[in-house]
Amino acid sequence: MNPPKVFVTGATGFVGRAVVARLRLAGCPVCILARQPGSAPVRDLVSRFGVEVRQGDVTAPESLPPAMTGAQAIIHLVGIISEVRRVTFVRLHTEATRHVVRAAQTTGIRRLVHMSALGTRPNAASRYHQTKWAAEEIVRQSGLDWTIFRPSLIYGPEDHLVNLFATLIRWLPVVPVLGGEQTRFQPVAIERVAEAFAAALQNPAAVGQTFDLCGPERMTMRELLEQVMAAMGRRRLLVRVPAPLACLQAATLEFLFPRLLGKAPPLNRDQLIMLGEDNTGDAAKADALFGLQHRKFRDGLAAYTSIP
Ligand SMILES: NC(=O)c1ccc[n+]([C@@H]2O[C@H](COP(=O)([O-])OP(=O)(O)OC[C@H]3O[C@@H](n4cnc5c(N)ncnc54)[C@H](OP(=O)(O)O)[C@@H]3O)[C@@H](O)[C@H]2O)c1
Repeated sequence: MNPPKVFVTGATGFVGRAVVARLRLAGCPVCILARQPGSAPVRDLVSRFGVEVRQGDVTAPESLPPAMTGAQAIIHLVGIISEVRRVTFVRLHTEATRHVVRAAQTTGIRRLVHMSALGTRPNAASRYHQTKWAAEEIVRQSGLDWTIFRPSLIYGPEDHLVNLFATLIRWLPVVPVLGGEQTRFQPVAIERVAEAFAAALQNPAAVGQTFDLCGPERMTMRELLEQVMAAMGRRRLLVRVPAPLACLQAATLEFLFPRLLGKAPPLNRDQLIMLGEDNTGDAAKADALFGLQHRKFRDGLAAYTSIP
């Protein structure tokens, strides 16, 4: 059987770029949803991987069926970590997923691999997780051949978070530690996440399944920062920020960034809620089905250009 042609949303993002690379390695033709077809990240995907570009927006439902034409499978990755004005969790997670599912039903595409997040559950505390849960429920009730992935923190040379930490470590004498002192994460390498998405697409045993994606080590935020410092060969004082102060900082950033810069804040109160919760899971099911071979976080850090 020929590899399926895959329609990818969120292809220009950190996860999307790696997923597209992996799909092309597996021989899958790829078409991507692009809000701005002429943007530099889109042109980069075209020149590196020969993807087809389909103009559209997950918040504009009428744009999706024509954009999906000719595809045999969908990978839906779009998501946000911070809200700005009308770009809300409800619109970008829940409603966007409803639009993608409806467009799949309209166009007759049965296979859908959906990106969720670890910690997603009914009655979650954060709105990020609440809206990801509602999106998962839409996927589960879609009647499509679905698979859902829930990764922990994803890291890789082009990630958002570890690179931010590397910048803070480079420039600040004291680095803030946010979230609970005992809260644990299970960072997973972007290569393994991309591998799992590409493998799931063509594996019938993955249909109707929800998989955690986690790395082999559980660590606190302090331990994670210590590993980044060690990889950079630098020592910094790590200082835990008390919850009320962190909350005040996040609220200030939430107020200022959209108004002054029209951008999402680098930290918000919803993230603080998540940073206070364990973000660990059971990777065994995905590791066994997709043959994922993990490496240690420390070894993954060696690939970062931001970390000398
Ligand atoms: N990074 C992590 O550690 C992590 C962990 C667990 C789960 N996840 C999930 O993984 C997914 C991808 O995360 P990421 O880190 O790759 O995010 P990212 O780098 O911010 O990328 C977001 C992508 O979504 C696209 N997008 C945003 N709004 C859109 C819209 N209205 N219509 C169409 N496309 C739109 C962006 O396209 P433009 O180029 O047009 O902006 C971009 O391609 C998200 O669902 C996230 O919740 C991430």
